Amino acid sequence: MEISIEEIDQIINQEAFGEGSLITALEAIQTRYSYLPSEAIILASDRFGIPLSQIYSVATFYNAFSLKPKGKHCLQVCMGTACHVRGSPQVLDRLQTKLGISAGETSRDHLYTLETVNCLGACALGPIVVTDGEYSGQMNSQKIDRLLKSLFHSEDIS
Ligand code: FES
Repeated sequence: MEISIEEIDQIINQEAFGEGSLITALEAIQTRYSYLPSEAIILASDRFGIPLSQIYSVATFYNAFSLKPKGKHCLQVCMGTACHVRGSPQVLDRLQTKLGISAGETSRDHLYTLETVNCLGACALGPIVVTDGEYSGQMNSQKIDRLLKSLFHSEDIS
């Protein structure tokens, strides 16, 4: 998605000069672009009067924010202890092989981003994969194949 400075400026101004906060401005930009472009960080620093370093600290502290463009679909594998013991490394391997990317990367076509996350608080369902915010539990290679098939299929018909 192409970055629009005017749009980013508008989002930030709404928050900076209204009742909003830096976090809500960053959330709005993250939602719009699926990441925080550097232009947004610079504008936010200027409008909120907060040093760049502080905004980067906020942006890197919260998992919800990303400084790199993400794919259309985001797949997260829980690597917490319970999920790890129940097979999340194999689940991650399968996803990496099928998508041709490593954890932390986005596919060249910008359709898929693969991430690892810490405990999601649903250990009994492990290993867990979160796809675009939707939890899938007790994952294994067969379930990964089915999950990806449905994602690939949805891309074919969109
Ligand atoms: S370790 Fe995966 S949900 Fe807790």
